[in-house]
Amino acid sequence: MAVPFVEDWDLVQTLGEGAYGEVQLAVNRRTEEAVAVKIVDMKRAAECPENIKKEICINKMLSHENVVRFYGHRREGATQYLFLEYCRGGELFDRIEPDVGMPEPEAQRFFQQLIAGVVYLHSIGITHRDLKPENLLLDERDNLKISDFGLATVFRHNGRERLLNKMCGTLPYVAPELLRRPEFRAEPVDVWACGVVLTAMLAGELPWDQPSDSCQEYSDWKEKKTYLPPWKKIDSAPLALLHKILTESPTARITIPDIQKDRWYSRPLRKDVKQARRSSGGVTDSPGGFSKHIRSDTDFSPVKGALGEDKASYSTSQPEPGTGGMLWESCAGSIDQLVQGFSFSQPACPEHMLVNSQLLGTPGSSQSPWQRLVKRMTRFFTKLDADGSYRTLKEVCEKMGYGWKMSCTNQGDGLEFKRHFLKIKAKLSDIVSTQKVWLPGT
Ligand code: ADE
Repeated sequence: MAVPFVEDWDLVQTLGEGAYGEVQLAVNRRTEEAVAVKIVDMKRAAECPENIKKEICINKMLSHENVVRFYGHRREGATQYLFLEYCRGGELFDRIEPDVGMPEPEAQRFFQQLIAGVVYLHSIGITHRDLKPENLLLDERDNLKISDFGLATVFRHNGRERLLNKMCGTLPYVAPELLRRPEFRAEPVDVWACGVVLTAMLAGELPWDQPSDSCQEYSDWKEKKTYLPPWKKIDSAPLALLHKILTESPTARITIPDIQKDRWYSRPLRKDVKQARRSSGGVTDSPGGFSKHIRSDTDFSPVKGALGEDKASYSTSQPEPGTGGMLWESCAGSIDQLVQGFSFSQPACPEHMLVNSQLLGTPGSSQSPWQRLVKRMTRFFTKLDADGSYRTLKEVCEKMGYGWKMSCTNQGDGLEFKRHFLKIKAKLSDIVSTQKVWLPGT
C-alpha cells in the first residue's frame, strides 16, 4: 500500500550517471526537501549485489560534515535506492576553470575540507580509493563533501591494518605504487589523489595521464622540471606541499598529520577574496555557465586480473545506526518515510513534467549510458527554437572545423573535453540563454 505522504516525492533531475545506474534529485512536493537518490540496477553487473551491499555498509558507518550524509536505502526487486544528502553546489570539478584553476584561497579552503574528510574516513578505517573533483560535491555554502563510496573499502579493522592489492581508481589520480606493487598501503594512495586534486585546483589541468615512467610528464615531475606546466602556474608555497605529497615512494610521502602542519596548508585564509567572489555571485556559476559534469571517465575500476582481487575480506558487522541515524534536520521525518516505504509518483503539475522531460531526455531510449552522459554534461540553454539552435550550432561547428559526426572521446582528462565545450559555447554566446531554468527545490 502506498503511503500518501511519501508519494509526494518527484524525481526532478538527473544528477549523475555511471555504469552502476544513476543519481536523481528527489524533491518533496509539500516540504520542498531535496535528497539525492542513487539508483542501482543490480542486474547490470554480476558482482553488483556484493558491491552495492558493501557501499551501503560503508555508508552506514559515515557521519562527518565533509562526507555526503547517508539517510538509508531501500530495495525494490533488482533495484537498490540509496538516499543521500543532496549537494546543491554541484561538483568541485565545475569550479575548476580549464588551464587556470581557481583562486588560491578557495583551493586552500577546499583542500583543507578534503583533508578533514579524509582524516575522518581514515580514522574509522575506511579508504575512498577514488578521490577526484567529480566525487567531491559542494553544499549550498560551498562546503566540500566526499561522495560515492562505491569503491571504498575497510583497510583497518580492530586496530589492524591490511594492505590492499586491488587496482582501482581513476588513472590520472592513482598513486604510482598501485601500478607497480602487488600490495600497498591504503592511506598514502588517498593522500596522493588529494595532491592531484590540489594540482587541478591550482592549475586547471591534470599533471599526467598516469604516474608511470612511460609518461613523459611524470618523468619531468620526478626530474623537478617545475618550469613546465602545470607546476609553473603554481605558487612556491603550495608547490612545496605538492612536492611532499606527490613523492613517488609511499614511505617517503608526507602523512596527513604533516600536511596539517605544512606552511601553505595552515596559512590563514584571505577572507576578503572569498567574500568578494560570493557577493559577486560567482560561487554557483561554473566558468562555463551551464557546463556541468565533464568528467574524467577512465575509471578502470574494479579492475581484476594482473594484480588480482582484494584477498582479505571483513565480516560486515558494522555499527548499525538504524533509521534513527537518518533523523537529521527538523523535517527528517519525511526523508525517513521516504526511505522506509517510498513510492515516487508522477509529478502533479505540468511544470514539473516539463522540467522533468527537458532534463531527463528520453530515459530508456536507445542512447548508451555514455551518450547520455555526454549529452548531459555539455548542456546549455538557448534563446532560439530548436531549428534556429540547430542551424546556428551547425554553422559554428563547421566554421570551427568540427564535423557533425565527431565523437568527442573524453579519454581520461575531463578538463580537455571541457576546453572544447567552452570554445564552442563561447562562439554561440549570442544565442546562449543566461536565464536559469527553474527547478523545484534547487
Ligand atoms: N551527484 C551525485 N550525487 C550527488 C549528490 N548527493 N548531490 C548532488 N549531486 C550529486
